Amino acid sequence: MIYLDNGATTLYKPDSVIDAVVNAMRTQGNASRGAHGATLSASRTVYDARVKIAKLFNFDTPSNVIFTCNSTEALNIAINGVIKSGDRVVSTDTEHNSVLRPLYHLQKVKNIDLQFVKADNSGLLNISDFEKLIDDKTKVVVVNHISNLTGNVNDIKRISEIVHNKNAILIVDGSQSAGTRNVDVKELGIDIYCFTGHKGLYGPQGTGGLLVKDGIEIDAWKRGGSGVKTYEEEQPHEYPTRLEAGTLNSHGIAGLSAAIDFLNETGVDNIEKKELELTKYFYNEVTKIDGIKVYGDFSWAGVDTPLGHAAIVSLNVKDYDSGEVSDALSNDFGIATRPGAHCAPRLHIALGTKHQGAVRFSFSYFTTYEELDAAINALKEIAS
Ligand SMILES: Cc1ncc(COP(=O)(O)O)c(C=O)c1O
Repeated sequence: MIYLDNGATTLYKPDSVIDAVVNAMRTQGNASRGAHGATLSASRTVYDARVKIAKLFNFDTPSNVIFTCNSTEALNIAINGVIKSGDRVVSTDTEHNSVLRPLYHLQKVKNIDLQFVKADNSGLLNISDFEKLIDDKTKVVVVNHISNLTGNVNDIKRISEIVHNKNAILIVDGSQSAGTRNVDVKELGIDIYCFTGHKGLYGPQGTGGLLVKDGIEIDAWKRGGSGVKTYEEEQPHEYPTRLEAGTLNSHGIAGLSAAIDFLNETGVDNIEKKELELTKYFYNEVTKIDGIKVYGDFSWAGVDTPLGHAAIVSLNVKDYDSGEVSDALSNDFGIATRPGAHCAPRLHIALGTKHQGAVRFSFSYFTTYEELDAAINALKEIAS
């Protein structure tokens, strides 16, 4: 199989990640539950992973790295834990349902004043719209770092300046940015950064988390065993325990930790550069084929761009249903892609693809030019 669905999850993981999970399953006890060798081994693994994640994102406080089972859970914790009844909240058309559905829910149950920055028909957001919508009453802004549909990158630094001028809190969905580019949460001015372990970080599914800037208060969302302060009735107040009741996925976290070693050894800059070259090559070739329409902003494709672009190219062939094209790619050519709506309803509406959907090709550090050529040739055949 030629796997070009890395935006959904990276299938090919470094062997060191798989070995770390297996080794952890053989050796680790329950982190923070006692002091024998097996539990200490798990506790050390989890602590080391917090430190490595903090360093990867240039974040100062490892104890404020909270582990979750994916970015959906991290985003739900952040959104439900900071937004209060009646708050004004600004988000964007580029969001995934992991942001939209929690916000729509709060609109119903907490009567929040929810506003959206609109995307244009290339999926781009206009910074001046943030200036218009984020006012003195705005409490929270939730923004996708990189669209999982177009691969467009939102200008988090400029958005953060606008958010902080109004003393609001900025939550960033880093699902597509973590591991695929250097993310410096301090430089970008992010208050809460949510990430998932199984995409660009090359970790196992069931891992993810959020980085919570010192001073940002997120309400506990689940309560239970923590291994500390057992006689207190309330969930312990300090991070990470406040948000991490119950046994952690320390087997997965061991894999995530090994994945971060892989990223550091390879160099996130090198990963980004390679993925951008693959994307450029694929874009330039598929746009030569009659009947192919690519979505998103590729004005950068011949030139350098300060924001860059994710390794994602979404397209349609003529007016064919995206599901049928993706099935043909899979059944006739052995190529895995993702059709349909990509959990991004507002962006599909902005692009005009609500009914057709789109076929998303997404690459990883392990994708080869031979695989891209096979996909380009398959598209030529389908289009003709
Ligand atoms: C932009 C974006 N946000 C959120 C998610 C949810 O990620 P997960 O399923 O790992 O929680 C995804 C995954 O597709 C995504 O691409």
